[in-house]
Amino acid sequence: MPTAKAQGLLRKKTRLNDILKAAGIIRNGGLVAFPTETVYGLGADAFNSEALAKIFEVKGRPRFDPLIIHIAAIETLENAANLPLLNKETRKKLFLLAENFWPGPLSIVLPKNEKIPGIATAGLATAAIRFPDHEIARELISLSTGAVAAPSANPFGSISPTRAEHVRDRLGDRIDMILDGGPARIGLESTVIDITGECIKILRPGGTPKEAIEQLIGPVKDGFITAAEGVSLVSPGQLKSHYAPRTPLLVLNQEDILKIPCETGSAFLFFDGFSRDSWQKLQNPPESAVIRVLSEAGQPLEAASRLFETLHELDNGRISRIFAQLAPPKGLGEAINDRLTRASA
Ligand code: TXA
Ligand code: MG
Repeated sequence: MPTAKAQGLLRKKTRLNDILKAAGIIRNGGLVAFPTETVYGLGADAFNSEALAKIFEVKGRPRFDPLIIHIAAIETLENAANLPLLNKETRKKLFLLAENFWPGPLSIVLPKNEKIPGIATAGLATAAIRFPDHEIARELISLSTGAVAAPSANPFGSISPTRAEHVRDRLGDRIDMILDGGPARIGLESTVIDITGECIKILRPGGTPKEAIEQLIGPVKDGFITAAEGVSLVSPGQLKSHYAPRTPLLVLNQEDILKIPCETGSAFLFFDGFSRDSWQKLQNPPESAVIRVLSEAGQPLEAASRLFETLHELDNGRISRIFAQLAPPKGLGEAINDRLTRASA
């Protein structure tokens, strides 16, 4: 029997071998699904337009939806972005954001470097750039080309993957490799912020709360669904029916979900244990009722990390309707409610 230490070393070595193999695939124009702290990404070399085209094909993603470029060191930011195009004030804000939130769940829209092909950014002159907080992701990026374009590794419009199994189920036979890093820690996509315009805008709420950003750089606006540069949407994550399970989903605030009686075939997804208890007292559901709680104690971080995973689990074809309770609308609650509302569209 090998000792625990030897087993640990062996695991590390296997992991490094897997990452080296994956990095080779990316360098050669292939597709690799990899873990990040938010959700699993479907990665390709950000400088290779043919490899990027494969991402759109495999996901069934419309070409007007730009990809996020992932980097693994602040020194390589300039390979993906064109920083001299930023004025002094904006550059200051960029470095404040990067210093405080990178590596982490924040994608920053910046003028793109000419080396990034137009297909990556759907023809936009900007690119959303993110420095993920996950060791496997960072090793993969730095051992491949230093810039990996990656959308969430799910078919377009469906629930984002928070585990390697989710990727395997939906895309497994269409991609070259999946790196398994276990369940994603945050479980919700990054916040997308645009700092290139006159006012700073959040284009997609996500893992970095707006409140934390505002504390650092002052007030920011919520982005709108706007058409820009022809058919390009400003942030197509804003497309209404996004992140959707196949099972119909209804979102309700706490007061309203308490009024819904328990019918066979329905599933109930509560934000916290207190709401579930109140509903059970009022509706007296049978033993067989399908009831899930995102966080017993009502903690947004825990709730966020369980949201997509629970939706994947309930979206199993045996449930005809999901009733989901909205989170208190602050901090990560905003991102949870954003995903729930889109899932219901
Ligand atoms: O957490 C995440 O961000 C994950 C992991 C894999 O990093 N990635 C992710 O990618 O969620 P995706 O492609 O599913 O969502 C990217 C979002 C879309 O809403 C897209 O429209 C927006 O970022 N986006 C990308 N580039 C943009 C740009 N140049 N301008 C405005 N929005 C952009
Ligand atoms: Mg996505």
